[in-house]
Amino acid sequence: MKAMYHGHSVVSIETNGGVKLLIDPFINRNPLTDLKVDEVNPDVILVTHAHGDHLGDTVEIAKRTNALVVSTVEIVNYLASLGVERVHGLQPGGAFAFDFATIKLTQAIHGSSIEIDGLPYTLGLATGIMIKADNQTIYHVGDTALFSDLKLIGELNHIDLAFIPIGDNYTMGPEDALLAAEWLKAKTVVPIHYNTMKEIEQDPHAFINQLKDSKGIVAKLGEPIDF
Ligand code: NI
Ligand code: MN
Repeated sequence: MKAMYHGHSVVSIETNGGVKLLIDPFINRNPLTDLKVDEVNPDVILVTHAHGDHLGDTVEIAKRTNALVVSTVEIVNYLASLGVERVHGLQPGGAFAFDFATIKLTQAIHGSSIEIDGLPYTLGLATGIMIKADNQTIYHVGDTALFSDLKLIGELNHIDLAFIPIGDNYTMGPEDALLAAEWLKAKTVVPIHYNTMKEIEQDPHAFINQLKDSKGIVAKLGEPIDF
């Protein structure tokens, strides 16, 4: 697989077979991203949870491209009600072997609400996303607190590349993210979910310099990650 980071939690992946995946496409209101909503052409959109900085522009992109949207049952049912035609719902712990990759949702300790007419509605649980294809494993941890089952996830999977939030305030911060990286035993770690807004300002270089067993990369936007 090839993987690229696009600011906040936006990640794109391309399988060796040429299938394009786009995770958490928060683009229009993302001050950091290199992407444009009108220009992305994913085959599959993966959404970790319903917050606006993750669900982002999924509806617009899915309607234009007819991409398959994979997320929790609650989120994909909501998207289907808005006219998104191709969806596949999972729940944490559940995997499905698509022809392009096996996708598994994992636990995340975090909310998953959307705001409709100023009121919050929760759409199921927040998740992380594990992607296995081409004999490689990529883990997008999503938005989450540190939790000790990350150790188990690290033992049960050979994680080649992990995207780990470091922003603090809404997710784990750098200190907890260092533990997460250690527990996941990820070969390569890319910090995400930082510097998009004031509350989550962090120094990603200071973070990767403290990683013990993983190779840390501060990913340049839109450039292939060497993992
Ligand atoms: Ni969130
Ligand atoms: Mn978030």
